[in-house]
Amino acid sequence: MSMIGRLNHVAIAVPDLAVAAAKYRDLLGARVTAPVDLPEHGVTVVFVELDNTKVELLAPLGGNSPVAGFMAKNPGGGVHHICYEVNDLRAAAEKLILGGARVLGDGKPKIGAHGLPVLFLHPKDFDGTLIELEEVAAPGGSS
Ligand code: CO
Repeated sequence: MSMIGRLNHVAIAVPDLAVAAAKYRDLLGARVTAPVDLPEHGVTVVFVELDNTKVELLAPLGGNSPVAGFMAKNPGGGVHHICYEVNDLRAAAEKLILGGARVLGDGKPKIGAHGLPVLFLHPKDFDGTLIELEEVAAPGGSS
């Protein structure tokens, strides 16, 4: 059984959130949410809502943003992380750590942009890609 389910979103770090949001909304005609500050994650985000997934546009928030280093290396922006859905985040984290993967931060889930628990996995353990896992309710309701 697969630990990961649907691709929840692809996140792109951008130098100017208003400009990026306007481009998706006005040039591409996509549905774009209002910006939300996530101080605990050090980012401001908007979501581009597509039929089959979402694109998260994010910009650093505050002086201690974990995205600041990425923006310094990629001043024009770039793909920052991808987010997979899981049904049981704690069980997933336990299995991943046993398998040698590193969970970022203190290893405890934080509440993400959708009000659901999330964890991030070290990009060096996943082929240079920062992975976010988001816990969603299991299909059928019970988790
Ligand atoms: Co994300």
